[in-house]
Amino acid sequence: MQIKQLLISAVLAPAALAATSPQTVFYGFENLHKRILSTHECLKSFNGGMTQSLTCGYELYNVLMASGSSRKDLADLDSVPADQVQTYLNHYHGIRSAVADTLSTAFSKVDSIESQGFKMFSQVLLRNFASERAIFETLTKSKIPVANHSEIAGPVDSLKVEFEKTLTVFS
Ligand SMILES: *[C@@H]1O[C@H](CO)[C@@H](O)[C@H](O)[C@H]1NC(C)=O
Repeated sequence: MQIKQLLISAVLAPAALAATSPQTVFYGFENLHKRILSTHECLKSFNGGMTQSLTCGYELYNVLMASGSSRKDLADLDSVPADQVQTYLNHYHGIRSAVADTLSTAFSKVDSIESQGFKMFSQVLLRNFASERAIFETLTKSKIPVANHSEIAGPVDSLKVEFEKTLTVFS
């Protein structure tokens, strides 16, 4: 299955190294956010058709690429300047909320996903995104001032729970 190979190669893509600015990180976050919203739209209308499977698979591939590239940009950023912490948090929470909505839709679509034989594969992808979430949390804590860590604690824990809940139906 071509789309699966494409997605697997995205998961395994090697990291590139480059210095980066907060603007580059925000641009990457914006792109990631858009890709997640677009995947969510696809998933909402997903009923197990072959064309839909390919379309949503392609959307997911774009999320994987955007997420990988955002993560690399963030890793290469020295730190988020104090006057940009709020902007950072706005992006962060926007993405977190889009991911939570998408997970909730995936949870409700498990039967359609299973009917196409994508259940095990979805589980692999979900685990990948769950570990990506943990990496973003760790990176964020290393880039924003400690005084602002409380701004992400609660919502980020709830997203972790959301991943665990979704994984229960895909296991
Ligand atoms: C970050 O923490 C500092 C110190 O507590 C606070 O003054 C500032 O408002 C916080 N920034 C944001 C965006 O919450």
